Amino acid sequence: MKHLLSAADLSRSEIDSICDLAEEMSEVQRREVKKLPTLRGRTVVNLFFEDSTRTRSSFEIAGKWLSADVINVSAKGSSVSKGESLRDTVQVIAAMGVDALVIRHSSSGAPAQAANWVDASVVNAGDGTHEHPTQALLDAFTMRRHFRLVDPGFADWSGKTVAITGDLTHSRVVRSNVLLLHTLGARVLLVAPPTLLPSGVDSWPAEVHTDFDEVIDQVDIAMMLRVQRERMSGGYFPTAREYTIGYGLTPERLARMRPEAAVMHPGPMNRGLEISAAAADAAASRVLDQVAAGVAVRMSVLYHLLGGANETGATA
Ligand code: NCD
Repeated sequence: MKHLLSAADLSRSEIDSICDLAEEMSEVQRREVKKLPTLRGRTVVNLFFEDSTRTRSSFEIAGKWLSADVINVSAKGSSVSKGESLRDTVQVIAAMGVDALVIRHSSSGAPAQAANWVDASVVNAGDGTHEHPTQALLDAFTMRRHFRLVDPGFADWSGKTVAITGDLTHSRVVRSNVLLLHTLGARVLLVAPPTLLPSGVDSWPAEVHTDFDEVIDQVDIAMMLRVQRERMSGGYFPTAREYTIGYGLTPERLARMRPEAAVMHPGPMNRGLEISAAAADAAASRVLDQVAAGVAVRMSVLYHLLGGANETGATA
């Protein structure tokens, strides 16, 4: 694996390999000394043109726990604010001898373009409304762990139903999740008001629903997505209250979920809008597990890109 640009690039065996190694990496997370020598001498640059808390810091922690040198460059405070082009910025950083560039950008396709301009490995850490493949990987890892609690031998996704509900139009998380879950073989339900369904959604490998109440009692995973007000220009729904009534994971809907079902949210959460505090903090909530998984999965991804091997288990 040279780059990670789209969830569509990953085969079933690559997804399993990344998740298996992430399982091993997560053991490092529980140690007092959280350091492996695996990527010593390698340099990872986080190049973030958009705001981020968890994605940027978890890439940083992941790189550091593998002993790579990790540098953070954000658009604010860099020459980007002086008008430098994406190509020049990417090439300047790559010219310093960087091994991996982790890029978040507001334009869909920016990381894929960057991959054409440099020799370094490029990881898409979220591009516009397009994709966020490491989020989908950490979500799959979190789901797999959840399913293995009930069935330790879990491997067949075809019996599992994942509902992804919320602002699908502006979400790169949904696009990567649909692609990855399709490869794994899960049944994916997309739930949103008609105004927040992306154009072309009918051709995605998923079922489209506009009534959350019709499906809530069928799901194994209720993944809630943030209402991305900063990407909205017009009125996509009448009021926040009406959105919550139709599409929020309210305490009433939480109570209708199957007993072994889980609640997920990639964050940041709008508590009280798409997810109630009761759901976010419920015993069924895997939200903080997702955050913890983010570090282990990104360690695994960096290893798959830079570690020079695809086999699992070789944690040096
Ligand atoms: C998401 C993102 O930035 O794409 N967050 C994340 O990476 N965990 C979703 C969002 O911004 O709502």
